[in-house]
Amino acid sequence: MYELCPETPADTPEVEALMDLCFAPGRTALSSYRLRDGVAPVGPLCLMLRDEFGVLVGAIRFWPVRVGGQPALLLGPIAVHPTAQGEGLGGLLMRESLTRATEMGWSRVMLVGDLPYYRRFGFWKLEGVEMPPPTNPDRVLGLELVPDAWAQVTGPVERESGDIAANLREMPGNTQDTRGCTEIEPPDHSA
Ligand SMILES: CC(C)(COP(=O)(O)OP(=O)(O)OC[C@H]1O[C@@H](n2cnc3c(N)ncnc32)[C@H](O)[C@@H]1OP(=O)(O)O)[C@@H](O)C(=O)NCCC(=O)NCCS
Repeated sequence: MYELCPETPADTPEVEALMDLCFAPGRTALSSYRLRDGVAPVGPLCLMLRDEFGVLVGAIRFWPVRVGGQPALLLGPIAVHPTAQGEGLGGLLMRESLTRATEMGWSRVMLVGDLPYYRRFGFWKLEGVEMPPPTNPDRVLGLELVPDAWAQVTGPVERESGDIAANLREMPGNTQDTRGCTEIEPPDHSA
């Protein structure tokens, strides 16, 4: 059994340690991190998975960005502890957070990552969406949570700016998560 919880400030050092373990050194030098600097993450979508011993085995985070002036979710980072990879936990975090994002009223998601992994969740290569350099354009991927949400949305990806709290409040359903933690069965990775 796993416990799925929104990340709280008390969890952040543990989540950072998991990210450091799972990614190459210097991860925060990546251009995607410049879009997160000084911007609050989308709290209800930053989820953590703990095993039956309370050990953190996976985490996913989301930030708000603007593309061509339109709001979008920047997915990532996502990490699963090396001893728990390949058991479906990454898929569980992806599907659960994307379902919650849809329920909150977000319409489009982007990320920088490997298409062979993210394709299974419906992501495809975005055309005309420019991440700050240096970013391989083939790794700039998008997903529509409502039909045609990426149609005609192009341009540079920019940090959400201004009064972030007010901007987030404007977005439908983007309030504090009231769900707390939920117990989750181990994913059936053989399915
Ligand atoms: C990527 C990651 C989050 C996936 O988590 P996970 O729990 O292992 O994923 P799942 O068990 O749901 O899925 C595993 C499947 O994804 C595949 N996969 C994992 N990473 C992949 C990648 N970069 N490219 C292509 N396929 C990948 C595995 O080969 C496996 O395939 P299978 O189902 O055919 O056996 C995890 O491997 C991880 O933390 N990696 C290090 C950090 C990282 O690279 N994060 C993503 C940044 S793009």
